[in-house]
Amino acid sequence: EADILKKLPLRGKKVLITAGPTYEAIDPVRFIGNHSSGKMGFEIAKTTANLGAEVILISGPTHQKADHSLINLVQVTSAQDMYDAVHKYYSNVDIAILSAAVADFKPKEIANQKIKKTTSALTLELEKTQDILASLGASKKHQYLVGFALETNNELEHAKEKLDRKNLDLIVLNSLNDPGAGFQGDTNKVTLIDKAGNIKTFELKPKSEVAKDILNKILDDLNA
Ligand code: CTP
Ligand code: CA
Repeated sequence: EADILKKLPLRGKKVLITAGPTYEAIDPVRFIGNHSSGKMGFEIAKTTANLGAEVILISGPTHQKADHSLINLVQVTSAQDMYDAVHKYYSNVDIAILSAAVADFKPKEIANQKIKKTTSALTLELEKTQDILASLGASKKHQYLVGFALETNNELEHAKEKLDRKNLDLIVLNSLNDPGAGFQGDTNKVTLIDKAGNIKTFELKPKSEVAKDILNKILDDLNA
């Protein structure tokens, strides 16, 4: 076997990655969304593909580009679309990394016509979306499952609770209290918590480097 292939530790593996926000329609012209840029997920997809894996990148609306022959980009809009796409691929993948900022609530009804401003106030009734990550944890077989947690307070406690409740192998904690971290900029500061309870906090760094830290941890765990 050629030496160059030894540098591709994920060659032959399939990896599912979610990225970006979801948009939940209110009417034909309006939606509920969030400020996720998709950058973190796309950097993870690039790093994963560079390690030789076949990547299925399921993304909500973003301006990110995925120019890599091993990345298969599946574009979705709503949380339900993302749920359906993820479940289409899940049984065939070795690793799933869910970095998308999925809406937790969606309008209970979508108006068929543009809502007019004729009334003085408007109340929208929202209902919960399905938790995609939790659904994967519940039906997990051979997959190594990674989730994210975006927290503003009691960060470690909340992240550990999500790791356990959603049956994850690893959770990537983002604290919105760290300057330069979060889902809009080019840098991030994360803490990795695995299911054995090991905790490692990294410095603030470019998201491309954060992606490498996450993949290094996954490779370590898979080879252990
Ligand atoms: N997630 C998901 N489907 C949802 C909501 C969240 O797959 N409907 C995933 C995210 O992609 C992330 C993880 O769940 O990997 C945690 O998201 P986060 O918003 O931090 O946690 P929630 O479980 O949604 O709880 P809360 O927002 O109340 O903290
Ligand atoms: Ca949430």
